[in-house]
Amino acid sequence: MERTPALDPETARSLLDLARKARVNAYAPYSEFPVGAALLAKDGRVFTGVNVENVSYGLGSCAERVAIFRAVAEGVREFDAIAVVGPEDNVSCSPCGACRQVMHEFAPEMILVTPDGDGWKADRIIDLLPGAFVPARLAGYGRTV
Ligand code: THU
Repeated sequence: MERTPALDPETARSLLDLARKARVNAYAPYSEFPVGAALLAKDGRVFTGVNVENVSYGLGSCAERVAIFRAVAEGVREFDAIAVVGPEDNVSCSPCGACRQVMHEFAPEMILVTPDGDGWKADRIIDLLPGAFVPARLAGYGRTV
């Protein structure tokens, strides 16, 4: 059995709170499923994200990727944790496969925090994406980072 990864409860609760606050800016007129994310970088900065949809449905982005891309655009690539909250404050919102792969790119050990009733639960991204596509697989093709 995997142990629940360590994350100080105060940090987890404060990230969830920031994700809930960010969620008010979600642009989700098509799904009506607002999502907020709060990404904690190793340097202590927090980057929030919301889902941003489009009338051309496939162009939308999940909240998690918006948060990560904001951080990367600011030159930040090392992360400790990300909290994700869907429309309901206390129900888990599990990231989609695309977001798991993007999280894995930068921080496979990063901890995902989601609401769980009155509390929260924590999982390592690496445990949520077994068999991830990894840079080593590109060896001999193009240029690996
Ligand atoms: N969505 C997220 O932003 N994050 C998730 O973890 C799950 C789904 C968004 C995508 C879309 O805008 C809406 O929720 C419904 O799928």
